[in-house]
Amino acid sequence: MDEPTPQAVERFDLAHPPAGFIDDPFPWYAALRETDPIHRCPDGSYLVTRYDDCLRVYRNSNLSSDKRRLFRPKFGASPLFSHHTTSLVFNDPPYHTRVRATLMEALKPKTIEPTIVMLERVVAQLLDELVERFSGGYEVDLIEHFASRVPVEIISSLLTVPVEDRDNLRRWSLAILGALEPELTQEQLALGNRAVTEFLDYLRALVKYRRSRPSGAPNDVLATLTALHDRGELREAELLHNCIFLLNAGHETTTNLIGNGVHCLLHEPRAREQLRERPASIKGAIEETLRFASPNQLGNREVSEATHIGAVAFEPGAQITLCIGAANRDPAQFDQPERFDIERTPNHHLAFASGIHACVGMSLARIEGKVAIAALLDRFPNLAVVRPPPVRARIRFRGFERLDVSASG
Ligand code: HEM
Repeated sequence: MDEPTPQAVERFDLAHPPAGFIDDPFPWYAALRETDPIHRCPDGSYLVTRYDDCLRVYRNSNLSSDKRRLFRPKFGASPLFSHHTTSLVFNDPPYHTRVRATLMEALKPKTIEPTIVMLERVVAQLLDELVERFSGGYEVDLIEHFASRVPVEIISSLLTVPVEDRDNLRRWSLAILGALEPELTQEQLALGNRAVTEFLDYLRALVKYRRSRPSGAPNDVLATLTALHDRGELREAELLHNCIFLLNAGHETTTNLIGNGVHCLLHEPRAREQLRERPASIKGAIEETLRFASPNQLGNREVSEATHIGAVAFEPGAQITLCIGAANRDPAQFDQPERFDIERTPNHHLAFASGIHACVGMSLARIEGKVAIAALLDRFPNLAVVRPPPVRARIRFRGFERLDVSASG
């Protein structure tokens, strides 16, 4: 485990993080925030760790989300390149505005109401399965058997993916998102490219199938996007890549929200007790998990026109990484930021970003987190973490590889 000494912080390299960083990046975030809040990494990119500076980045119109320049050398002409540069999150207006408007409509609180009933049903069924798995005093990996299943089921049903095909989606999604890590092996690249190709083939066939057999579902996002394509407002590639993106955007992030939330609550007896006494504080517990253990730790922008963030000047082409995880523990914004406090108010965290790219699925993610965690703790009041869970080896996304729990207590 490397220590964030002043010299080590000066040399800090996000692409080659110090030993122990994945498990516990927070001492490094604190040191960077304090002494070098807009840190120049060895590859010339900048890492922004203070809350106010991150807000300035999100609100700066001289910054771009277009990743073509950045991803070309990383991915070459490949399916991963086409995918990541076609999804709305890595694009600027006007294309971004057009696709975002459609997804906002499909995922706004009013439209997702029918999804909540289905979510409650999915969660109840998964809990029944957990009862079986726990019987006989067995331990269960909550990531595999609960946290990851909820978002895949929800997004699959928004895209009307038949139940028997849903296992593939999780596999594809992890491989495609894994390819966004700062450093990649050839194997990760190959896996990611294969996943994009298989996923595209699958969706092409699904769109064709749904044309002859509409799902009739009240919130069929695939049908909404297909209608845009039919009206000439979305090319076929844009339709398919944005469906893939929806799954990717809502899968690992929400899995981590549920896994991290359960872990924080079981780890903090006071928080668990508060939730028992006042079940409505689940809302605060979700917000505090989003802040304290942000599922998405990093964001990126490229400077398109010369600009300033605070006192630092940036030239066009400069790469900026926003450190959401560090901003969300900035003592200048949050009182006692290292404390997990489900009654924290206000709690204006940046877990869903801010500005024109702020998360479109935030209402859905919050509801998934609330329904899943509340029902789980209600059904298994003696739920306990069996051993310290291994953190998934990713810098961008923060969550557990597995979370072994027992329910007997
Ligand atoms: C806890 C769960 C989630 C977290 C922490 C999260 C976080 C984020 C963040 C930080 C961004 C901004 C990216 C940027 O600035 O470059 C984003 C964008 C986005 N998210 Fe989420 N997200 C979550 C769940 C979801 C879900 C469930 C969906 C939909 C099913 C979704 C759909 C999107 C979309 C479409 C965008 C792109 C918005 C745009 O570029 O305008 N997210 N999300």
